[in-house]
Amino acid sequence: MQLKSLTLQNFKNYRRETFSFHDRFNLITGENGHGKTNLLEAIHFLSTTRPFKQHKMEDIICFGQTEGRIKGEFNTRSGLSEVHIMLDRGGKTIKLNGKVLYDSRKITGRFNVVTFLPEDTEYVKGSPADRRRYLDILVSNFEPVHPRDLKQYSRAVSQRNAILQKATKKSDILELWDGQIAELGGRIMNRRIATIEKLKPLVAGIYNTIAHQKKQIKVEYNSPVSTEGNLEENIREGLQTNLQHDIKRGHTTVGPHRDQPEFILDGRDASKFASQGEAKTLAIALRAAEISLIRSILGRLPIVLLDDISSELDRGRKLFLFKLLSEFQGQIFITALETTDVIYEGQKKTFLIKDGKAKTA
Ligand SMILES: Nc1ncnc2c1ncn2[C@@H]1O[C@H](COP(=O)(O)OP(=O)(O)O)[C@@H](O)[C@H]1O
Ligand SMILES: [Mg+2]
Repeated sequence: MQLKSLTLQNFKNYRRETFSFHDRFNLITGENGHGKTNLLEAIHFLSTTRPFKQHKMEDIICFGQTEGRIKGEFNTRSGLSEVHIMLDRGGKTIKLNGKVLYDSRKITGRFNVVTFLPEDTEYVKGSPADRRRYLDILVSNFEPVHPRDLKQYSRAVSQRNAILQKATKKSDILELWDGQIAELGGRIMNRRIATIEKLKPLVAGIYNTIAHQKKQIKVEYNSPVSTEGNLEENIREGLQTNLQHDIKRGHTTVGPHRDQPEFILDGRDASKFASQGEAKTLAIALRAAEISLIRSILGRLPIVLLDDISSELDRGRKLFLFKLLSEFQGQIFITALETTDVIYEGQKKTFLIKDGKAKTA
């Protein structure tokens, strides 16, 4: 799958710009603050219908404007697909091949993109919530219903918490929410654990290739309930066993919203002990494993976006990383301050971004 072309209108600092991309390697350079990351974000938005982070629409639309557009043409196995996203203060309207889509999963299930961002190290060094987020994004590649389940699950937890905080008789309504939490939570946990099982062997291999050393890397999924057997039942039991405790605390302490995925580097919790460079290498290995899984499970090559990838990596690691990228057969978009920051011998197209305008070099 490749993105052939892209038109941006009032998207962040792009007023109006059209791009025609290379099928393999697109290098995006330019000084700080001119729109390199914004361009990657537009591609991400077009492929997933989401910006990089939760944002208000008015932060995505160019300052002072009321509407924005992202339009692009993908080349997929089943032919050309045109995606057109219109943004306004109220939200977004998505068109696929000229028809309005009411279910954005039609997009997310179709165009896979893997994004390497500088803040990916948060998955390693940050909180369990950051790691849950990484894992849920990973799962969503293979299970397009996952985000919807997460949303419903989180609503059920909020409802249960609201009841826990009231002094009224609780049991009947609580049972109803317990049922929903167990059912959705069981599905969420199952998918996360199954995905980690597939991820594990890949991450270690990629890490050691980039770092050119032999580190033991483990990925664990820790939960207050057992992660074996019938997970729905385990959660239901956990909720009941912890009911008094939950009433005292005023919130639900059992379920996938409390689970803790962990990365273990040579026997130690990476969130506490990994150095900045190790965290970066691990974050890259996690994304590279995501590419590998998409290829093996879905049989397609995702579009790969890399933002400022080589900062904080020593020369050796940089060389191995770019070697991996050269071997990747799919389409790559990579930003860098200088063209010399990127080591790539193959054919490519270079874009110089200045003030929301692009020049090809
Ligand atoms: N909604 C917006 N409208 C106009 N400009 C924006 C908007 N959001 C961010 N910007 C501008 O985009 C610029 C940052 O672009 P970015 O792509 O992050 O730069 P870089 O080239 O360093 O990656 C900043 O100058 C910021 O003010
Ligand atoms: Mg940037």
